[in-house]
Amino acid sequence: MAGALIQPAEVLLSKRVQEMVINGEEPPAPYICREGDSTEEDDGSVESPIPIVDLSLLSLSAPCGDDNEDELHKLKSALCSWGCFQAIGHGIPSSFLDEIRQVAKEFFGQPMEEKKKYAKTVTEFEGYGADPVPEEGQPLDWSDRLFLDVYPEDKQKLKFWPEKPDSFRDILKEYTEKMKMVTKLTSKAMAKSLNLEENCFLDQFGEQGPLQARFNYYSRCQRPDLVLGLKPHSDGSGYTIILQDEVGLQILKDDKWHTVPQNPHAILVLMADQMEIMTNGIFKSPVHRVLSNSEKERVSLAVFYTPEAGKEIGPVDDLVNVERPRVFKNVKDYADLHWGYYQRGTRALHTVQV
Ligand code: OGA
Ligand code: NI
Repeated sequence: MAGALIQPAEVLLSKRVQEMVINGEEPPAPYICREGDSTEEDDGSVESPIPIVDLSLLSLSAPCGDDNEDELHKLKSALCSWGCFQAIGHGIPSSFLDEIRQVAKEFFGQPMEEKKKYAKTVTEFEGYGADPVPEEGQPLDWSDRLFLDVYPEDKQKLKFWPEKPDSFRDILKEYTEKMKMVTKLTSKAMAKSLNLEENCFLDQFGEQGPLQARFNYYSRCQRPDLVLGLKPHSDGSGYTIILQDEVGLQILKDDKWHTVPQNPHAILVLMADQMEIMTNGIFKSPVHRVLSNSEKERVSLAVFYTPEAGKEIGPVDDLVNVERPRVFKNVKDYADLHWGYYQRGTRALHTVQV
């Protein structure tokens, strides 16, 4: 018999990873990307060094004092070295985090014909399916996702918003409100941690800085040694807030992959390229990836917080001085630029250096 026929990515992308798994198919060639990947990684069992920050100690209403100062220092040091932290004290009840995890799981657990009501075309971005086809030779991700613009409200395209489970839309709207609150709180705290005027980042994002929700579904895979749930990348947003159920997400630091632990009460706040630009390189936008797992499927929800379209952003004036000359140019619509590079398997950040 002839060797396995390799289909073009466009054809492959018309089929969900979940369908291939249900059919018992092995990962086809375009998904295979881990051969020869020898970067050291933890085994996920040791206690994670990824810092934990209690946002309740940083909120405006928190009394000023040593706790507040200590926590601000922790926040700054986490973002300078890791580019992320596990946020607790964020004001979102754990029961609500469980609820949104549950509706996400239920959505992906439905029959394919139900999910396909919200399907995107191969080239579209929003909707249910896979990311648009990457550049030739770039691997595909062993995952399916539902991508939705959630804020500002007039950007919501309800035709992509699931009607089942029944509570999906309401819960997502409520989660969006919570994300607005968390981004406000976090943006102010980050400014304070650098001794900046507390609105300096919020002003750069703009009053209507968009939020986009990406529900990721990582199917089990018989060959986790060959594929990745999501290939290594940094995000093109300002920063991203990630909720997960099972482990799988890893952060690259000092040439080693560190697993983000399972902490049902925490959300991960992850710097993206535009915060690295605004802080003149002080906060790091870390490379991260998602492993595939042979035993458990995994669901995550990433919410991207990005400056308004067409708005120029750049290093905050007070972070540019003789000791720290300007590292980045001012940019507009960086996320679009980032996407083009992402599709080619590289990063865009170096292209906006001075
Ligand atoms: C992303 C991402 C991580 C995860 O969607 O950009 O990095 O845990 N997601 O799903
Ligand atoms: Ni990411």
